[in-house]
Amino acid sequence: MPRKVNYGPDYDDNYDEYDYGYEVDENETPPQKETIKHSVWRCSICTYDNDETMSSCDICGVLHGPLLNNSIYDKKRTANIFDLKSSRVSSTVVGRDEAVKVSSMRSDSSNQSTEKGKHNRLDEINILKNIEVGPPAGSRTSDNCSASVQEGWLGHVDESSVAVNLQSRGKSSLSLMPKERNVMVDDSSSSRNGGEANSLTSNLENISFAAKSRHSNDAKPGRAISRAQYKPEKWMLPEKAEHSLTQLNLAIVGHVDSGKSTLSGRLLHLLGRISQKEMHKYEKEAKLQGKGSFAYAWALDESAEERERGITMTVAVAYFDSKRYHVVVLDSPGHKDFVPNMITGATQADASILVIDASIGSFEAGMDGTKGQTREHAQLIRSFGVDQLIVAVNKMDAVDYSKERFDLIISQLGAFLRSCGFKDSSVSWIPLSAVENQNLVSAPSDFRLSWYLGPNLLDAIDSFQPPTREFSKPLIMPICDVIKSPSQGQVSACGKLEAGAVRSGSKVLVMPSATIATVRSLERDSQACPIGRAGDNIAVSLNGIDGNHVMAGGVLCHPDFPIAFAKHLELKVLVLDGATPILIGSQLEFHIHHAKEAARVARISFLLDSKTGKVVKKAPRCILAKQSAVVEVILQEAVCVEEFSKCKVLGRVFLRTLGRTVAVGIVTRIVEEQQ
Ligand code: GTP
Ligand code: MG
Repeated sequence: MPRKVNYGPDYDDNYDEYDYGYEVDENETPPQKETIKHSVWRCSICTYDNDETMSSCDICGVLHGPLLNNSIYDKKRTANIFDLKSSRVSSTVVGRDEAVKVSSMRSDSSNQSTEKGKHNRLDEINILKNIEVGPPAGSRTSDNCSASVQEGWLGHVDESSVAVNLQSRGKSSLSLMPKERNVMVDDSSSSRNGGEANSLTSNLENISFAAKSRHSNDAKPGRAISRAQYKPEKWMLPEKAEHSLTQLNLAIVGHVDSGKSTLSGRLLHLLGRISQKEMHKYEKEAKLQGKGSFAYAWALDESAEERERGITMTVAVAYFDSKRYHVVVLDSPGHKDFVPNMITGATQADASILVIDASIGSFEAGMDGTKGQTREHAQLIRSFGVDQLIVAVNKMDAVDYSKERFDLIISQLGAFLRSCGFKDSSVSWIPLSAVENQNLVSAPSDFRLSWYLGPNLLDAIDSFQPPTREFSKPLIMPICDVIKSPSQGQVSACGKLEAGAVRSGSKVLVMPSATIATVRSLERDSQACPIGRAGDNIAVSLNGIDGNHVMAGGVLCHPDFPIAFAKHLELKVLVLDGATPILIGSQLEFHIHHAKEAARVARISFLLDSKTGKVVKKAPRCILAKQSAVVEVILQEAVCVEEFSKCKVLGRVFLRTLGRTVAVGIVTRIVEEQQ
């Protein structure tokens, strides 16, 4: 059965169509209009310039066609869950039937970890997405900042600077590793970026620099293929009948003690994933410790500390099959101290169940503006790109299955979810009781719930839209966990394949050590498997690499499409409702996929209008709650990163301080890469 993990996030898609012009205070010169060449088409939603061969936007998934509107896009999300192993564990493999807690790489259970979580409202999300910010392609240092923004955003690229950077980039791929590491990079790795670059350089004047300048710089004549133009090999694409069930990564989130683990455990038991014998054992042990009511939760809460405290601390991963899906359950901690762990798991979700405690006072506590994790979790998962949600209104037995209570919760929480950007049509409300087994996998038997005529929880899960996977893109797998077996000299990187595919014998570039390794074997759900594809949570056993060069927070990528390694970044951020203001010089925890670093806010370049995304003020001194802004941060150590427009999962960030998520954002520009 289950086991535990930590993961990373996803932004999202509901971009409204805004006026994408930029307005800078007072007497600013309006930005120049970009000219579009025929070889690209501009997404009317997110403004990304797509190659003409793309039938939908590479960034937000909007179809290329006259019927574009806000409601027609299929958000491309990759989900995932690893078949992880705790980093504490060296080489054990956990089967589907085992409950395993995976400690996430860098996030530990302490409240100092951060996340990539994020936030909120539709319009806020839109803001984050509808502005492409970045300086001219040639300029990559902070000096360019505000003064050159206008030009940089829309404008002109100095080709000479591109050429210069090209060279330095070539070198950089060989030296992207942390100090003291040996690099074993073959030529292909140093030229890989060049790949994408060329087509981009040819369109330099057409594209939004924020997203592409870096790759333009890497352009290398003759090696030019963009990620969009990448042609996958046949084996990389799944054959139709190959998997009868689509994998659905399902994050179970919600306020502390709302019943997430109990609900997950009960569901697994009802679906045969926990045997009667195991359940009996949990019941007995829980009773002995005076925690009888936690018996089902114990299936997920495995550690002694979790059981003793009666709270989940790390994400537990479990599996069950519904009619349509192979569901990967990510049971998240609800306690505020473990929000970072919740984030690492939930960031890989395709869909989510938000568990609410219907009891009097408990629902209200979750909705508390400053302490309620119902609010924080809802904001975070929406910002990860999750837009399909089931609200499981649990503990209905505690309110006598009252329809009035259920309706009140819908009305209050529904308004909040709308403000987070969830569409009413993508949210299902299910009244249930995990403890009394009402409405989980069959219609409620308690007459007090006879007023409810909707689907049960399992049917609602089957009603989720299947996630979209990026099978045809170059490989990207953020490393969540590393398993080393020193005795056998083996090292495995665990994580969710966000894009592309791997199989035994594949060459992969391991970042940030910039080392090429060969895939020795793969495991999925603790079983050997020949191929891992986007969406799969796998353990990739590597040959030809020193185990010290594989680390959580790193990334496995295609040797021709290396991802960047940088510490100076430009971000577009939204400060969350109720959060403390961000000032120039603020020290924050910076979270990006599975990495966390201390960060300093080096510059606040612009304040953005929260409705339109337009620049309303240059160089403000601080960013207040609910304000959006363009900032530059300098991290203590470099992280593997991509601009959001190139790779969502490597371009979403969360800023935290004092145990709270204060802002969410996206990487709009890599100001300076590590050489
Ligand atoms: P964290 O992971 O620590 O945030 O908690 P959780 O949301 O996983 O809650 P958990 O499953 O540990 O349950 C907390 C308490 O709520 C336990 O005592 C459960 O027995 C109780 N509980 C869970 N579901 C129900 C329910 O349907 N009705 C009632 N009355 N109690 C429930
Ligand atoms: Mg729990």
